[in-house]
Amino acid sequence: MTITVKDYTRHIKNREAEMRYLGNKTKLLNFIDFVIQKYDIKGHVFSDLFAGTGSVGDFFKHKYTVLANDFMYYSYIFNSSKILNDKRPVFDVFQKKYSIDVFHWLNQKTFKPNEHYFIYNNYTPKGGRMFFTEENGLKIDGIRITIEELYIDKIISENEYYFLLASLLESVTKVSNTSGTYEAFFKFWESRASKTFLIEPIEFNLTKFNTSNKVFNTDSNELIRNIEGDILYLDPPYSVTQYSSAYHMLETLAKYDFPTIKGVGGKRDKGKCVSLYSRKQYALEQFEDLFRQAKFKHILISYSNQSIVPLDDLVSLAKLFAVNGKINVEELKYKEYQNHRSSNKSNGEKLKEVIIYFEKETSFAKSPLNYSGSKDTLLPEIIKELPKHVGTFVDVLGGAFNVGANVVATNKVIYNENNKYIYGIIKWLMVNDSKQIIKSIEKVINEFKLYKRAEKEYYALRDYYNNNISSYLHLYTLHMYGFQNMIRFNNSQQFNTPIGVAGYSDDIKNRIINFKPKTKKYELINKCYTKFQWEKYPLDTIFYFDPPYFITSAAYNDGKRGMNGWNGESEVELLSIISKINQLGYKFILSNLLYHKGKTNHILIDWIHEHNFKVVQAGTSGWRYTKNEVLIKNF
Ligand SMILES: C[S@@+](CC[C@H](N)C(=O)[O-])C[C@H]1O[C@@H](n2cnc3c(N)ncnc32)[C@H](O)[C@@H]1O
Repeated sequence: MTITVKDYTRHIKNREAEMRYLGNKTKLLNFIDFVIQKYDIKGHVFSDLFAGTGSVGDFFKHKYTVLANDFMYYSYIFNSSKILNDKRPVFDVFQKKYSIDVFHWLNQKTFKPNEHYFIYNNYTPKGGRMFFTEENGLKIDGIRITIEELYIDKIISENEYYFLLASLLESVTKVSNTSGTYEAFFKFWESRASKTFLIEPIEFNLTKFNTSNKVFNTDSNELIRNIEGDILYLDPPYSVTQYSSAYHMLETLAKYDFPTIKGVGGKRDKGKCVSLYSRKQYALEQFEDLFRQAKFKHILISYSNQSIVPLDDLVSLAKLFAVNGKINVEELKYKEYQNHRSSNKSNGEKLKEVIIYFEKETSFAKSPLNYSGSKDTLLPEIIKELPKHVGTFVDVLGGAFNVGANVVATNKVIYNENNKYIYGIIKWLMVNDSKQIIKSIEKVINEFKLYKRAEKEYYALRDYYNNNISSYLHLYTLHMYGFQNMIRFNNSQQFNTPIGVAGYSDDIKNRIINFKPKTKKYELINKCYTKFQWEKYPLDTIFYFDPPYFITSAAYNDGKRGMNGWNGESEVELLSIISKINQLGYKFILSNLLYHKGKTNHILIDWIHEHNFKVVQAGTSGWRYTKNEVLIKNF
């Protein structure tokens, strides 16, 4: 659907002049707000993960707690000045000492160059480049160094320091002899570059801000694992241009760290700031990872039809993570703005800027099958450790299917379980309509007059199951009332779990209703994992193993549950199979314990060291004796 911002009556006056910055959203702020209003998006915490000049956070700071991030340090400075202030800092210590406006004081200072004047010596004709005139280069260096000295001498606070640096950076863009970025300079002096440099206070909204606002300076895909909130705004680079290359000058001026520089543009090394969003073969999986890891209900993405990843591909990906697969694409009509971008064409196609909005499916569905060793409480930690791209996810020792069912894979999820009873129940739960399941369970409960701790009734159902009908409906119903929900059989395949204390409840009913694999395409397998032909799986498969724990005495270790016991031999066999999977080039994650109640799993620890696998603490599980769970992985 095409909308125009004209339709949107509440027009907040934008106080900011647009800074020359690729993808600057100053002109689109009302459009973002329009989408928020249109879809009645509610929330308290708003995060801008690719914050650039900080214009978005600044615009929304009066409404939300803002978390802003960008991996460029100059952006950290812009964001710190804008979203952590509601007025210009007062410079009281400075004022007391000098009784003059700090900007005026800086502008009237004169400077004498020396070999440490980095801009003057490298980016003016003095250094063979024409980014700035010599006169301006000298002033820029002098002011940059003075700001640092004021801060070191405690004449300005940290907040004042960032404010002055942000002001310096923005002012510099006004006298740069370039077309906007710093890849190259003009071979003549453009009129803006001939103006005398003046540091002017950076403009931002003088509206209230929340003191819990935070500015980060890291990779967004790392940060996303450690923050949460309500609205996630994503404005990643659209093109192959690396910001660390285009704005190397701002980075060097912000850090003033005397980097080694190269080439005509005098660029610093990009360091860690190489954006995979700007690389065609990686961009889509960066998004996949952000979507999967986001602990935000509402996701808004600024995007265009000229972006590296085709718009349709991004929409198809987003569908996998959205509630009911529903995605909204709002298109902005540029006519309304009459700005330079309206004439921007590529491949003959007119630039179309959009906001993709969707509600993310953030809840975890707990399996309706109560199962010893269930990973439902550790799901957040397991999901966090997934790689950026998950093509196929195999829950190799699937149990109650808590893990596989909650993973979004772009291709499919596979559940495998060797125990035919457990497999049978999961399959029965998956293939039947949940309302029908509930109806039939309630019918059995009524027929047998079951209630919690009702012994006679429970044993009557157990006999009925063992002697007459071995249906999964009856077995599943029994497990709800049985001792510790165990599904245990004797050697003659008779279900022999004694009565327990629990039973059918609203919780179980809701779990039956809500339990649906998050990945549409899934497959259920009932075989011994040792029989898997691993090499048949595509290379972007992740194998997840949640075996019985060798050093605990979980019920399934006693060999009485239709499964062979889990002993040292089983442990060695599992580890050697995982070594093979690793050798074949697949990624794996293994859940386990290294230590428990004074015992140490030496076999496992030696194996981890031998292969140099990564161990991640995954929290605790279990209610009687807590277990310190770890995830072992090869990526
Ligand atoms: C389109 S610009 C954002 C513009 C911003 N909304 C504004 O109005 O100024 C994209 C930003 O993403 C940053 N960026 C690119 N890859 C990143 C990554 N992996 N992590 C964090 N920031 C990244 C770039 O430094 C750049 O500032």
